[in-house]
Amino acid sequence: MANNIVWHEHKVSRAERAASKNQRPCLLWFTGLSGSGKSTVANALDVALYQRGYHTFLLDGDNVRHGLNGDLGFSDDDRVENIRRIGEVSKLFADAGLIVLSAFISPFASDRRMVRNLFPAGEFIEVFMNTPLETCEERDPKGLYQKARAGVVKDFTGIDSPYEAPMRAEITLDTSRLSVDECAERLISYLHSRKLIL
Ligand code: PPS
Repeated sequence: MANNIVWHEHKVSRAERAASKNQRPCLLWFTGLSGSGKSTVANALDVALYQRGYHTFLLDGDNVRHGLNGDLGFSDDDRVENIRRIGEVSKLFADAGLIVLSAFISPFASDRRMVRNLFPAGEFIEVFMNTPLETCEERDPKGLYQKARAGVVKDFTGIDSPYEAPMRAEITLDTSRLSVDECAERLISYLHSRKLIL
């Protein structure tokens, strides 16, 4: 950080911004392999919350890599920087009072912990998309597993780049067993039970 930088408190707090929307700011952090259903479930939840009148914002891997993180690839260092920036951006949206849905492979436990630590207790909800690799590979919606197996795509998560599964995720979902709607319902119930939505 540069020198001579002073933090300014805002006059309207994040809690005040959120209260006017009958919600509390929080971040649902979807982590899992490519093809595990992160974006699909995050989108379904986004729609369900929007239809109920809540104010959300969705950030996801491929989209953020088109813009803000267009300079980053898939080396370990670039993935760390990817998640660091997304964590900070997610925090800004939460400061605006929103329910933030962020869907990124985020393969390293230390990066997910770093994002968790940006948030007050209870406002970071780790959603582990624990769909088996075999299912993700069978789905292969972008043909990337096939390319990774052929060695055309390098450093592919689950094939030749590691994925560190969460040990204590708040919610674990497996889209080989649950439908997208069932996953979204579980997440809505969780948000209700924690009074993050009223
Ligand atoms: S990370 O690991 O969190 O920085 O990745 P993320 O920003 O979520 O981007 C994952 C999407 O990028 C595509 N893609 C790859 N994924 C993993 N490994 C490699 N080498 C790779 N190359 C491209 C892929 O489409 C991922 O999208 P999802 O939605 O996860 O399938």
